[in-house]
Amino acid sequence: MPYTLFVVLSLLAPLARLAGANPFPAPNRALPRAPGWTFDTKNETSGIVALESIVVSPTLALFFDRASDDPLQINGHSAWGALWNLETSTVTAIDVVTNSFCAGGALLSNGTMASIGGDQTGFPGNPIIKPGNQAIRLFGPCSSPTGEGCTLFEDPNLVLLTKRWYPSATRIFDGSLLIAGGMHFEGVFYNVDPENSFEFFPRKEESVRPSAFLERALPANLFPRLIALPDGKVFMIANNQTIIYDVEANTETILPDLPNGVRVTNPIDGSVILLPLSPPDFTPEVLVCGGTIIDDTIQPGNLTSQIPATTQCSRITVTPEGIAKGWEVEHMLEGRTMHELLHIPNGQILITNGAGTGFAGYNSVQDTIGNSNSDHAVLVPSIYTPDAPLGQRISNRGMPSSGIARLYHSSATLTPQGNFLIGGSNPNNGTVVGAGIKFPSEFRIQTLDPPFMSVPRPQIVSMPEKLAFNKSFTVPISLPTSLKRPDAKVQVALMDLGFSTHGFHAGARLVFMDANISPDGKSLTFVTPPNGRVYPPGPATVFLTVDDVTSEGAWVMMGSGNAPPTL
Ligand SMILES: *[C@@H]1O[C@H](CO)[C@@H](O)[C@H](O)[C@H]1NC(C)=O
Ligand SMILES: *[C@@H]1O[C@H](CO)[C@@H](O)[C@H](O)[C@H]1NC(C)=O
Ligand SMILES: *[C@@H]1O[C@H](CO)[C@@H](O)[C@H](O)[C@H]1NC(C)=O
Ligand SMILES: *[C@@H]1O[C@H](CO)[C@@H](O)[C@H](O)[C@H]1NC(C)=O
Ligand SMILES: *[C@@H]1O[C@H](CO)[C@@H](O)[C@H](O)[C@H]1NC(C)=O
Ligand SMILES: *[C@@H]1O[C@H](CO)[C@@H](O)[C@H](O)[C@H]1NC(C)=O
Repeated sequence: MPYTLFVVLSLLAPLARLAGANPFPAPNRALPRAPGWTFDTKNETSGIVALESIVVSPTLALFFDRASDDPLQINGHSAWGALWNLETSTVTAIDVVTNSFCAGGALLSNGTMASIGGDQTGFPGNPIIKPGNQAIRLFGPCSSPTGEGCTLFEDPNLVLLTKRWYPSATRIFDGSLLIAGGMHFEGVFYNVDPENSFEFFPRKEESVRPSAFLERALPANLFPRLIALPDGKVFMIANNQTIIYDVEANTETILPDLPNGVRVTNPIDGSVILLPLSPPDFTPEVLVCGGTIIDDTIQPGNLTSQIPATTQCSRITVTPEGIAKGWEVEHMLEGRTMHELLHIPNGQILITNGAGTGFAGYNSVQDTIGNSNSDHAVLVPSIYTPDAPLGQRISNRGMPSSGIARLYHSSATLTPQGNFLIGGSNPNNGTVVGAGIKFPSEFRIQTLDPPFMSVPRPQIVSMPEKLAFNKSFTVPISLPTSLKRPDAKVQVALMDLGFSTHGFHAGARLVFMDANISPDGKSLTFVTPPNGRVYPPGPATVFLTVDDVTSEGAWVMMGSGNAPPTL
């Protein structure tokens, strides 16, 4: 569209809207078939099982696996950490000292990634592994696009207060991490050696805070689902128990149990996500999908790989009125366990990965498939539209099949490029591959590419490195002609891409910002969240979406960039 015409149309648009007319009727010509979602399997494999994944820079994702016998080598032994280059789809092993098997993780307010806890054991033939259950591993911030020169830092004196295998971590309002739960040593299936407590990194006090909530949630309380609320408190789900934890007062408020007997934390992995927060009220709503309805006193030897996962999604508005109203129930198109819920920058939620039946773990239920406690991989993703009417929110129309089972020990994350990186799956003890293995150790990496990846996209031309809270910023953008429409829907999302493992995306967050595009289509003005409770200070990715076509993300530091605590 010529520039002058665009300006004139921009000026007319508000009048036309008042008149209720559409000033831009669809052109009367055959449009090319709209592009769909596609899976793209990369040539290079991850070389380690991508059982934990976190985006650590605009171009790099960090994977952790169990320290075992992975094919990727470093310094003469199998690696268990690797950097995946999002631009070239290539892998580089990184040297990890301690065993990161089933660790938690998050980015801190200064941009450093912290990997938390892990496993104590070694592995035959890989003698250099140190116990990881009390470890803290730090990485970055890494400014090299290829990761060259960026190393993982492990100080034997920098440790958790206690041993934690299967803990969760999430960044809170002062930029530090709240760390929850886990067990002390490797155990089979349920949490039989629990650490029912919270602590912080960096430390806020010299002893852990016991948690009555985690106690009540035994025996299926591993990788508790933590969500930082916009008032600074933390919403938590473990098993079928739900609370709001007041970090500052160290008190819990009990919320209604998940309805209908559904349980959602490891080894019964359902997934949980904070729906997008929008100004001016940033009203928090939590969505919980999948998991399984079983009596959690049944021992694993009496469970089977064929017990169906639930289709149930439960949603609650975390305000006094919302809590009084309780959970609203709806259903996915199929049952899922060990899947992920992920934010799409336009505010929809992607549901991907997982199994239709069975449980997390391996070699513990009665009728394993090979070693797998689960079966019936779900290969087709769905999309959840939060503002659609109840009963009409979930669809898989036009979604492709991945062709690759992503069961226990798989991960998925949104990337700064705007697509989803999917890897891992290994319901086995170490590397098991070969003909006839239904659920092998999976080293293939895929992206799930939204339709906008194959059309001209908006571009954020530049962005300040740091954004202060509660401020207005104007940045240069460029829009393809196809999107230069004054009545186009404009969305600007400030996102934490989160840390993916065991069917949960810890720290994942999407905060919409009030925004508008200048009439000439060349600049974008947006207002940052009011404070670090709405978006915990730290790294963020800003995406501009115009009529569901999303730009590449701009990597920014929200807040001062100082080490935690930032207050
Ligand atoms: C991926 O592999 C295919 C088939 O071997 C080859 O044609 C293609 O060039 C490769 N692509 C890249 C990016 O290496
Ligand atoms: C939650 O689980 C506990 C322990 O198994 C059980 O007693 C309680 O009835 C469950 N709540 C609901 C709503 O099913
Ligand atoms: C498990 O099964 C055995 C018999 O196979 C039975 O004796 C035991 O009571 C069962 N335990 C539970 C908790 O279901
Ligand atoms: C896994 O393999 C290791 C090494 O071979 C062995 O020591 C361990 O007992 C195995 N664990 C399970 C649960 O099979
Ligand atoms: C945000 O800034 C506005 C003025 O631009 C001010 O009125 C408001 O109090 C500020 N809010 C916070 C949370 O600081
Ligand atoms: C970020 O903060 C953490 C916690 O205080 C600290 O351990 C780490 O060294 C800091 N990173 C950098 C790059 O200074």
